[in-house]
Amino acid sequence: MNFKLELERRLNEINNILEGYLPKEEGLYKTLIMAMNYSMTAGGKRIRPMLMLETFRLFNGRDFDLLHPFMVAIEMIHTYSLVHDDLPALDNDEFRRGRKTTHIEYGEAMAILAGDGLLTLAFDTAAGAYERVDGSSLDAINTYKRIMRAYKLLSTKAGIHGMIGGQVIDIEFVGKAVTKERLDTMYLLKTGALFEASMMIGAILAGANDEEIDIISKLAADIGLAFQIRDDILDVTSSDTVLGKPVHSDEKNDKPTYVALMDLEQAKNEVATVTDRARKAYDALPYQNEFLKELIIMLISREK
Ligand code: IPE
Ligand code: IPE
Ligand code: MG
Ligand code: MG
Ligand code: MG
Repeated sequence: MNFKLELERRLNEINNILEGYLPKEEGLYKTLIMAMNYSMTAGGKRIRPMLMLETFRLFNGRDFDLLHPFMVAIEMIHTYSLVHDDLPALDNDEFRRGRKTTHIEYGEAMAILAGDGLLTLAFDTAAGAYERVDGSSLDAINTYKRIMRAYKLLSTKAGIHGMIGGQVIDIEFVGKAVTKERLDTMYLLKTGALFEASMMIGAILAGANDEEIDIISKLAADIGLAFQIRDDILDVTSSDTVLGKPVHSDEKNDKPTYVALMDLEQAKNEVATVTDRARKAYDALPYQNEFLKELIIMLISREK
């Protein structure tokens, strides 16, 4: 398998799916929709829908029509979280996904509303999965149950005990010296929660059993944790051009991060240790998806 080629193939596949779900830029509130599409089409690695898709494949999921609305929904939620994360009241950043941030391009009011629009459209989109169930099939009831379970999980992980809770801790920790344990709690929420939602929804919709879903939840939490530590590292070692967002944002905001807590080499070791734990959990599963395995390993050394 040529990983780079396969990665590009999937990125194109996901971008095509997303394209089909973007709202039309028309009507009296056209500016809002333009602002929403501005951030959605700006690029981005599409890691969350990719993990959802590959976990679905891992468990031999068949009905991709049910999965697509959820892949789109998770990317909309993630994108809204970035639009709001960049606002002056939060991280106050002016560059994202290689473009000016939404509030710089469209103004603060429109950026707040575009975020609200993406969040609500995400749930509208995910709920649309129910229309794709063949109501006359024998397992229609099981399929509806899986959709509802996935829907509930998406709400929980995006919400107060998930991503938003993590963002609140992030704000309240500013300027404080925190322990590694507290930092982990924050990362598991602000970043880990959407990774968990992504992979668990892939597993749920594919029909994985509870034990398998539980393994996936732990694995995804670790991948999210490692992903955020790597993000902290790149904030000090990379460049605006490579990342498509401003470096030294954490330092500017006096954020407690892994690189503020320990030196770079130690932080890199943490990423490797946590990823290794995820890889071992993955290897213990009685299923194979070579691409997913490589993707997990690639995230340790990602450059953007
Ligand atoms: C950025 O997420 C926010 C973090 C959780 C670190 P990504 O690095 O996945 O951003 P995009 O989607 O590729 O722009
Ligand atoms: C963001 O963490 C996590 C979110 C839930 C948006 P960061 O603030 O470190 O993300 P970047 O570096 O701006 O992408
Ligand atoms: Mg932030
Ligand atoms: Mg930020
Ligand atoms: Mg960051």
